[in-house]
Amino acid sequence: MKVLGIETSCDETAAAVVADGVSILSNQIASQVEIHARYGGIVPEVASRQHILAIIPIVEQAMAEAKATWSDLDGIAVTIGPGLAGSLLVGANVAKAIALAHGLPITGVNHLEGHIYANWLIGRSPDFPVVCLIVSGGHSDLVLMRHHGDYVVLGRTRDDAAGEAFDKAARILGLGYPGGPAIERAARDGTACIQLPRAWLKGTSDFSFSGVKTALLRLVEGGKVSSKADAAASFQEAVIDVLVTKTVAVAKERRVRQILLAGGVAANELLRQRLVANSPIPVVVPEPVLCTDNAAMIAACGYFRFKAGRIDGLDLDVVPSLKMA
Ligand code: KG4
Ligand code: ZN
Repeated sequence: MKVLGIETSCDETAAAVVADGVSILSNQIASQVEIHARYGGIVPEVASRQHILAIIPIVEQAMAEAKATWSDLDGIAVTIGPGLAGSLLVGANVAKAIALAHGLPITGVNHLEGHIYANWLIGRSPDFPVVCLIVSGGHSDLVLMRHHGDYVVLGRTRDDAAGEAFDKAARILGLGYPGGPAIERAARDGTACIQLPRAWLKGTSDFSFSGVKTALLRLVEGGKVSSKADAAASFQEAVIDVLVTKTVAVAKERRVRQILLAGGVAANELLRQRLVANSPIPVVVPEPVLCTDNAAMIAACGYFRFKAGRIDGLDLDVVPSLKMA
C-alpha cells in the first residue's frame, strides 16, 4: 500500500511516498530556513506564501522520485495540526484536491504522532509498549504508546519547549537561527563548565526550560560569558541532562520495551549519544533527516491510520492547536 504524505505545518514544505508504512520510496523537503533566518525566526505569513510556491513542485518531485503515478497510490496523508494555521491550510487543501481529483482516500495526521512514526522508517519496527520523547520547536512531550494510535501523554513542557529553548539560547548568544544546530555547532569548541540550573519538577514527568534560558540571559547581560562555545556547551548539557534523566526514569517506571526519540531536537548528536549511553532499555533513534520535519513520517503514520480504518472526509479541516490523544 503506497501513501503520499504531505507536511506543511511549519517552515518545511515536504512530500513523500512510503510503502506499507515502513519503506521510503521518496522523501522531498523544501526548507524555508534561509528566508526566515533573516528575521531570526519563522514569520507565519511568509511561511504560508512559500508553501504555496513550493507545494506543487515538491509533490511532483516526490511522485517522480518514487516513480509513482496517481493510480499507484492507495491514499493521501496530510498534517492537519498542530502548527501554523496558514501553513497547514496549504498542505490540507492540496491533499484534498488530489484526493478528490483521483478518487483517493485521505487521512488527517497529528504532526507529533507523525514524528513518532519516523521510528517505523528505519528498518525494524518498534516493539510495544514504548515511551517516546518528542522534542521539537513547540513540544517536549513524553508519550507512552501501547499500540498504534494508542497514546498516553505522561509529561509535557510547562513553558518553553526544548527546541524553543535552543532557539532562544542561540539568539541570546548571537549564534543565529535555527538555534538548535547553531548551539550544537558552537558547543563542539567548548566545554560544559558553566553551572546552569536544571528544573527537575520532581514527582512529575513534566519539563521546564524557561529557567535555564533566563539564567543564561542573566549571565550574558552581566558580562559573565567570556566564551560563547562554553556557554553553548553548558546550555546544551543542562537541557539534555534533564531530557535524558526524565525519559529513562519514566521508561523504567512504565517497564516499556523500547525508548523512541522523535522531533527536530532529536537530531542533536549529544542527546542521541547520551540517551543510548544512559538507558538500560533499548533506544531507537531515527537518522537526523527523519527527526526534523518531513513528510515520510506523515505517510508512515497515515498508513497505520488507514489500516485502522481512520479515513477522513473531504470536509477535513486543519486544527492549529491539535493535541495528542
Ligand atoms: O520537529 P521540528 O523540525 O519542527 C517542529 O515541529 O517544531 O523541530 C524544530 C526544532 C527547532 O527548535 C530547532 O532549533 C531544533 O528542532 N533542532 C535542534 C537541532 N536540529 C533542530 N535542536 C538541537 N540540536 C539540533 N541539532
Ligand atoms: Zn516537527
